[in-house]
Amino acid sequence: MTVEHGQRTGTSSALGGAGRASAASPRADVRLAIPSGGVDGAEAAAPGRRPKIEARGVDFFYGATQALHDVSLAAGDCKVTALIGPSGCGKSTFLRLINRMNDLIAGTRVAGRILLDGEDIYDSRIDVVDLRRRVGMVFQRSNPFPKSIYENVAYGPRVHGLRDKAALDEIVEKTLRGAALWEEVKDRLASSALSLSGGQQQRLCIARALAVEPDVLLMDEPASALDPLATAKIEELIHELKERYTIIIVTHNMQQAARVSDMTAYFYLGRLVEFGETAKIFTNPSRQETEDYITGRFG
Ligand SMILES: Nc1ncnc2c1ncn2[C@@H]1O[C@H](COP(=O)(O)OP(=O)(O)OP(=O)(O)O)[C@@H](O)[C@H]1O
Ligand SMILES: [Mg+2]
Repeated sequence: MTVEHGQRTGTSSALGGAGRASAASPRADVRLAIPSGGVDGAEAAAPGRRPKIEARGVDFFYGATQALHDVSLAAGDCKVTALIGPSGCGKSTFLRLINRMNDLIAGTRVAGRILLDGEDIYDSRIDVVDLRRRVGMVFQRSNPFPKSIYENVAYGPRVHGLRDKAALDEIVEKTLRGAALWEEVKDRLASSALSLSGGQQQRLCIARALAVEPDVLLMDEPASALDPLATAKIEELIHELKERYTIIIVTHNMQQAARVSDMTAYFYLGRLVEFGETAKIFTNPSRQETEDYITGRFG
């Protein structure tokens, strides 16, 4: 399937109502659909199990420039998948495809399929607002709204129609606890989010993404602007969050990828070179290019 951005007006919800019910879907392990490019990688999922997210033969274009070539990979429930590779290799582009953030960039085009719980997210019937609720995103630079700490977390649930103050209070507390920030901010919920430290702001952004109960969390270098202590907190948090969410994280930090992820995908020049279990990728990769990159001989 090929989709030109800026032409679609999908409104009805093919995903609508699925919500957390999808948590009942089988806990598929991560597996790789081997693309025609000949990528190494093991089929780790049990037969018949459906991955949470599956990319099949994805090409992506910014205008005439092709940024992704035939990318196929699958990520399972309650796993962390790390995307690694040198600058400009397409990690962020691929990540943004998973919640259709690239739709916002004029002149882009995607071909191939990306499935969430088996449903093609580029199908014209998909409600993109609902998709983005289910697939939350956290960026490299924390970007809290210039509002109070409370309002940052309550924003998403409000947009999705929740008005009840007590229910909102409960969500704000529960989510801030989940993002390991509650103890630090519980006495200053009305203060501006911009008064928080960088690491706190990043955890607030994670809380904001979690407040609408997503299934999947996309993180694009979430700790690269943070000091080692704040980074360690984010990594601990990722470890806790993966109990409940499928997480895909872009990182330039090899140690971080090795520490936090179960599966690792190595991208180079818009192609997926190798995808497999993190322990294997970091100790015994199948491809020389992967080894050169992770050992710092290249990139
Ligand atoms: N909005 C855009 N318009 C045109 N080209 C873009 C756009 N965003 C990214 N690209 C190009 O697509 C390619 C992949 O970029 P992408 O940002 O996905 O790389 P990346 O792997 O995330 O890099 P980095 O590690 O530096 O963040 C690059 O050649 C980049 O210049
Ligand atoms: Mg990037």
